[in-house]
Formats: sequence, structure tokens, C-alpha cells
Amino acid sequence: MQYTQNDYLKMIDSALEEYIYSVKDGQDIVADAMRYSIRNGGKRIRPILTLEFCRVCGGDPKAALPFACAVEMIHTYSLIHDDLPCMDDDDLRRGKPSCHKQYGESFALLAGDGLLSLAFETLTKADRVAVADIVRAVRTLSDFAGINGMIGGQVIDLLSEEKQVNYATLHRIDKLKTGALIRSAVLLGCIAAGIQDKAILTAAETYAENIGFAFQVVDDILDVVGDTATLGKPVGSDAKNAKSTFVSLLGLEECQLLASRLTENAILALNSFPTNTAFLEELAKQLAVRKK
Ligand code: IPE
Ligand code: IPE
Ligand code: MG
Ligand code: MG
Ligand code: MG
Repeated sequence: MQYTQNDYLKMIDSALEEYIYSVKDGQDIVADAMRYSIRNGGKRIRPILTLEFCRVCGGDPKAALPFACAVEMIHTYSLIHDDLPCMDDDDLRRGKPSCHKQYGESFALLAGDGLLSLAFETLTKADRVAVADIVRAVRTLSDFAGINGMIGGQVIDLLSEEKQVNYATLHRIDKLKTGALIRSAVLLGCIAAGIQDKAILTAAETYAENIGFAFQVVDDILDVVGDTATLGKPVGSDAKNAKSTFVSLLGLEECQLLASRLTENAILALNSFPTNTAFLEELAKQLAVRKK
């Protein structure tokens, strides 16, 4: 069965509502903050990738929903923490006041922590996935979200503020802070479908690496030429924090060309899949020219 992006969005949003359950024992303010940050406004690119990779690998995307939601929880926690005054200090996220503006810094910190723990709880709810594959998913997500992945990228990003950094360092930052979670989203889709085939996993990673890199290059472009109302987050954040980005290194035009080249590479990697990959091709193209 084929699904549209809209079908996936509905599946993801209703599953997230279910997984972020209410707690009413005094700590409900942080559950509210978790829900506030995850609800609406996000493009849901990562969970959509998980569901569609499960489908192209021959699985039922519904079986991959807990994995997809776990990735979105990690992503949302990373945004809550990324916006804190000690990090990028941004007041707007997904078209609403950032979590710390709405709930205060302490509860925003805890809402992020809560989502991080809940992500791993949610992985274990994939009851249509073999236990050995749930274990693979836990290892994959913890590895890519952690110090060798997303967190590592955030560390190097902070250490590089107010410095001229070269192409190799910027590539490393983007590969880790953004690329790693996108890679894990794609791999979790393959894992939910029970894929062991190295060639398929490598092709999936190549697609993810290329769209992941392009995704951050376009994010950097939009930070300069985007529109705050459309983006739902402040433009000019990188300049404010004296971040080196691909735009500051290569200029806007070269960045757009880089994003196009990476998108072509991603699409080429889809040739390794025997099934229909039109959705993934279209998604890659759409992300390269996105305005939000
Ligand atoms: C923003 O990610 C942070 C980056 C890694 C560049 P998204 O652009 O996917 O944010 P949402 O989920 O749509 O809000
Ligand atoms: C964020 O990169 C990456 C993570 C949150 C891991 P940015 O700092 O560029 O993301 P935005 O622009 O605030 O969404
Ligand atoms: Mg940041
Ligand atoms: Mg930021
Ligand atoms: Mg950015």
C-alpha cells in the first residue's frame, strides 16, 4: 500500500498523543511542556522517513510507528535544549514561544530530559517488531543521538562559535548534529522491517547522509534568507551567535548548488531498492528547495 505524506503525518500525530501520556501526580507541568513542544508545527521529516523506509523494505509502516515517534521525541528534546539561553538562546520554535519562554528554563530542561527517556520507553512498545530488532533499534538510536552522534555535533558546534572553521569541521558538525539523527530515522525504518542485508542498509545510510547534510545546509541558508513567520523560528540566529556555517564559508549560491548535488547523490542511492522509491525521491527534492 502507498501512503501520502499527509497519511503519515496523521499517523504520527495521533501516535505521539498516545505515547506522551498524562501524569497527574504533581509532575504534570513537565508532561504539558513535553506535549506543548511536540505538538503541531514540526515537519515530522524524521518519523516520515522511518515509516517510508519500513515500507520500501517490505514492512508495514504501522509496525514502525513507535520507532518513528521515538525519533521525533529525541529531535524535539534536542530543539528544546538547543533553544535554551545557554545554547542558541532562541525565543521562537515551531511558530510558538520556545519551551523555556513558556514554561521557564528548569522545566524546559526537564521536558527535554523527559522526552529523551520517553523515546527509549516508546521503542520498546514496538510489539510487532522482533525483540532482537528492538534491541538493534535501541543501540542504533542511542549511538546516533549520543556523544558520537547528535550530542557530539552540538558540542563541536558550540566550541566553534566565534571561530573561523574550515569545510572539514563544518561537515563534521553537520554530519553529527543533524545527519546522525536522520540516519538513525532511516535505519530504524529498515530495522522495523527486519532488514539485515548490508547492501540495503548501506544504501539507506547513503541516502540519509546526503539528505541529512543537505538538510543542514538549507537550514543555514534559511537562517539568512528565510522568513521568521514561515520558518516558525527566528532568522539570524547563526549570525547572532557568531556561528560558522556553510553560508558564511561558501556563500548562498554555492550552498544551493551543494544542496542540489547532495540531493542527486541521495536519489542515486535509491537505485539499490527493488521497490518503488518515488516518495523518497520526491521528499529529497522537496527538502532541497524548502522554505520552512
Ligand atoms: C530543525 O529541524 C533543526 C535542525 C536539525 C536543522 P527541523 O527543520 O526538522 O524542525 P521541525 O521538526 O520541522 O520543527
Ligand atoms: C540544531 O541546529 C541541531 C540540533 C538541534 C541537534 P540549529 O541550531 O541550526 O537548529 P535550529 O536552526 O535552531 O532549528
Ligand atoms: Mg544550534
Ligand atoms: Mg538553534
Ligand atoms: Mg539553524
